[in-house]
Amino acid sequence: MSISSFLTKKFLKSLFFPAHNRGAALPKKLVKLLKNPPGYWDLPELPELGSPLSQNGLIAKSQKEFSEKFKTKGCFFGVNGASGLIQSAVIAMANPGETLLMPRNVHVSVIKTCAMQNILPIFFDLESSSETGHYKPLTKTWLESVFKKINFNEKKIAGVIFVSPSYQGYASDLEPLINLCHQKKLPVLVDEAHGSYFLFCEKLNLPKSALLSNADLVVHSLHKSLNGLTQTAALWYKGNLVNEHNLIRSINLLQTTSPSSLLLSSCEESIRDWLNKKNLSKYQERILEAKSIYKRLIQKNIPLIETQDPLKIVVNTSKVGIDGFTADNFFYKNGLIAELPEMMTLTFCLGFANQKDFIILFEKLWNELLLNSKRLKSLEVLKSPFELVQAPEIEIGIAWRSKTRTIPFSQSLNKISGDIICPYPPGIPLLVPGEKIDADRFNWIKNQSLCNKDLVNFNIRVL
Ligand SMILES: Cc1ncc(COP(=O)(O)O)c(C=O)c1O
Repeated sequence: MSISSFLTKKFLKSLFFPAHNRGAALPKKLVKLLKNPPGYWDLPELPELGSPLSQNGLIAKSQKEFSEKFKTKGCFFGVNGASGLIQSAVIAMANPGETLLMPRNVHVSVIKTCAMQNILPIFFDLESSSETGHYKPLTKTWLESVFKKINFNEKKIAGVIFVSPSYQGYASDLEPLINLCHQKKLPVLVDEAHGSYFLFCEKLNLPKSALLSNADLVVHSLHKSLNGLTQTAALWYKGNLVNEHNLIRSINLLQTTSPSSLLLSSCEESIRDWLNKKNLSKYQERILEAKSIYKRLIQKNIPLIETQDPLKIVVNTSKVGIDGFTADNFFYKNGLIAELPEMMTLTFCLGFANQKDFIILFEKLWNELLLNSKRLKSLEVLKSPFELVQAPEIEIGIAWRSKTRTIPFSQSLNKISGDIICPYPPGIPLLVPGEKIDADRFNWIKNQSLCNKDLVNFNIRVL
């Protein structure tokens, strides 16, 4: 089967990214554009259009309009996902050899940039749930205890990265965290890939957007948390702690010379759509609907985990002795496609289309799953093996470029990794170049490989 034939494959229900739900929630103006003769709209950087880094043209004009609307200093559209813009933001914050402070649940795009540029990560651990293995949201008290472990006079930190919300929808109260960093004059990048829509929904009791919480740099994945096409993203910046010239240079460094006009139009329309009052109330209805889906499933005794993002339905499959990967396979075979299987849970992304019929379909398949699956007596997540504050044994860029050999992971105990070990989704590295595979880390990764096929009998490059 060709790729193009597969792209029109029908599923009963697609609860994965992109959040426009296979076109159902695309902005009307984008749908109209796509109704033109195929490919007609695929234009180069004509002067009237420009590019995300042009001073003039329609792209510059809408970026400026959005930037003014949200009182930021700048907004840039991106066509290589949140990943691409996060990478530019990281390069703008730190030079090779400088240090960035980041949580253990940082996205792999940050680690790749650190490896490429030899920007030195210092990781801080997060509290995690023994029930699900999920990282819990970072709190001010936790961050204070992290800061206490760091001697800021000895160790120059170039900036801090936060991830909020997480893939499953756990979100922090960002403002106190950002204030704490700003007291130390540290710029903050918030990876808000999963929370773009928070920016438009101040009244729905959702987490406050990073952009309204004084973050210096914020990256949104418009296909994950607004209704953009895959790869669309936006970067916003504020304040005086990040050098504008560095930021623009860093975007330029990584951006293609031929950004897709379709994707740029999708960036614009997905943001503009939410600024339109009538559309906004339609989306707000969807969010309320998502909250009621959660409540009704709970009433039906489905073991759900509550997070701060109503668009994520996180099922705690371990409660019934089934791991998330087995549940995912079952639902997939039956046409209900989820987004994120993990050892203890399975996460569905409702997206922005009407999903009322999800409840009936889910309940029916859930009952079949319970009848037909072998139940495991004990599913257990191991406590994370990390110290509260920890840096790789060897500088990441040096380890990445070192001579390495490939061995089975089972033989890697006490070796230094030259690899990034990172199942996707969720794209959170379990091990980065330069880190030692000590007994705790070894057992923790082995424990995860019980269910995740990406981690079964895998090889690793070690120094
Ligand atoms: C927390 C987080 N940040 C960033 C990204 C990258 O987003 P994109 O797929 O738009 O590049 C992801 C993707 O999974 C993510 O989960």
